[in-house]
Amino acid sequence: MAGRTKAIGIFDSGLGGLTVFKDIQKQLPGYRYIYLGDTARAPYGDRSKAQVLKFAKQAVDFLFAHDCELIIFACNTASAEALRTIQRSYLPKKYGKRKRILGVIVPALEEVASSPGLTRLGVIATEGTVASGAYPRELKKMAPRVRVFQSAAPLLAPAVEAGEANSLLTKKLIKGYLAPLLKKNIDALLLGCTHYGHLEKQIRAIVGRKVRVILQGPLVARKLHEYLIRHPEMETMLERRPETVFYTTDRGSGFARLSALFFGKAVVAKRALLEYKK
Ligand code: DGL
Repeated sequence: MAGRTKAIGIFDSGLGGLTVFKDIQKQLPGYRYIYLGDTARAPYGDRSKAQVLKFAKQAVDFLFAHDCELIIFACNTASAEALRTIQRSYLPKKYGKRKRILGVIVPALEEVASSPGLTRLGVIATEGTVASGAYPRELKKMAPRVRVFQSAAPLLAPAVEAGEANSLLTKKLIKGYLAPLLKKNIDALLLGCTHYGHLEKQIRAIVGRKVRVILQGPLVARKLHEYLIRHPEMETMLERRPETVFYTTDRGSGFARLSALFFGKAVVAKRALLEYKK
């Protein structure tokens, strides 16, 4: 028996995933975590599917090489464009059956599927996430009664990173991105990007009280907790040591500033070199 030696890996294109990680750490504080933000190549939102897949495979290799047994893709774009392929072929071929990767799309949609009155769902996300069709595809399997309307909001993540969440221009952008969804009389709006939680107040003000706003972080944290309860063979491998090591793929100067925004405290990150071998 190997004992409790393994960490939980958290992967995001950059620093927005810290919002999801914050909720995970709050709900499951006793574990050891390794956070990897591919800041040098973010944003992923307007990259090709092939590029996102390649970067995500590199991240998976890095995190598994750094003691992780379970990885959470905190990034919607990577969850939408790469996770299915990695779970179906890359993971079993290269790592066998034991290691696991979970994304952010299914936990959010499970919440939608278990909300009986919800029949018209709006999703805002990056261009890549919307183009992948992952949200409508997965929801069709879980709750065919729900119709999905998507809107790509490519400028919102950069606006949040630039510290412009409260600016007039950002409010105008949000209005523009939400207009086609509001015309469809949605009952709920899913914020399908790591950064949009920072725009929650502005978004609620535009959609009004009749539209339920669904945030991913708390849902992903809860589903991870439930997963660990259902899978003791995984849970008993995870080290009970409340510690996190942060890795970034660039020089790390932006990490301190943006981690204060996304994580609530400035953290220092180590440099990660990602390699890709076919
Ligand atoms: N992390 C990405 C997501 O959730 C947003 C930023 C990006 O485009 O890389 O889709």
